[in-house]
Amino acid sequence: MADAEGAGSAPGAGQQPARIAIVAGDANPELAQDVARLWAAPLIPAVVTAFADGETRVRIEADVSGLDLYIIQSTSAPTNDRLMSLALLADAARAAGVKRITAVTPYFGYARQDVRKASGEPRSARLAARLLAQAGVDRIVVLELHSPALESAFDIPLVQLEADEVLLPVIRSWNVADLAVVAPDAGALKRAQRYAMQLSAPLAVVAKSRPRPDVAIALRVLGDVAGRACLVVDDMASTGGTIAGAAQALLTAGAREVHALFIHPVMAPGALDRLLAAGVRRLLTTDSIRAVGDPRVEIASIAPLLWRAMTRIAG
Ligand code: R5P
Repeated sequence: MADAEGAGSAPGAGQQPARIAIVAGDANPELAQDVARLWAAPLIPAVVTAFADGETRVRIEADVSGLDLYIIQSTSAPTNDRLMSLALLADAARAAGVKRITAVTPYFGYARQDVRKASGEPRSARLAARLLAQAGVDRIVVLELHSPALESAFDIPLVQLEADEVLLPVIRSWNVADLAVVAPDAGALKRAQRYAMQLSAPLAVVAKSRPRPDVAIALRVLGDVAGRACLVVDDMASTGGTIAGAAQALLTAGAREVHALFIHPVMAPGALDRLLAAGVRRLLTTDSIRAVGDPRVEIASIAPLLWRAMTRIAG
């Protein structure tokens, strides 16, 4: 856990820790319920609805004054709505006198325009982070940000978690022989290297080009994958194009079989079909975004991971 300075500050001598409570945003209420159950923490009732014209309307329906409040809300699709409802929940909680607000945002959306690569582009992640801080969020807990550059988007304390402890046991339980871990592009290399080390497996990389947004082309495989079972490791599957392209390139390079692990199941329409059509056998992800709801996708819950992180920083 990368714990930003001040994120885990304990109460001073003689101070009573504030009572903790959880608010479930509308993105993945099941995950919030699971964390609340593990923590034996009260789940504060809140409604997130829309006015007739589509404008988001939220209401926290309990007294939250003095609480150490955790709002669990990934800013997944529809990203604008989820981001806005998180900001509105924080604003409502702040106005109602909470002691501290932590946004628990396992999947932090608007992360792909993290740096300005060309003139005319925004820094979307920075704007989203500033919106949350402006709304009253004091600190934020995220799971595996899209890129290391993103950390600098946050002016408030940031706690970044890794999903290894919930994903590695599942991969080990597969008992796959001759495993190789594969980064489907250069950006995925660090994470893939981490998995390769923990699984004592060799590492390979696929060189990828992205001629335009949402189109990925796997160019070539760097590393020896012949006869191996390859585990492609990425931060997300959105169109599925990156992992599908890597899978096809690996099979062409002689891989025996291909499996995929991605932290965030963004899963745009058609992604699952694309991954299966490319020959990916096993798909493993987390519930950072609401369950994919297809038995062919294995989900490892991050609820215990969030719960442990939240207990460490509460107080
Ligand atoms: C790199 O751009 C990212 O780490 C992911 O590989 C990418 O966002 C996945 O998107 P898609 O599934 O649309 O290829």
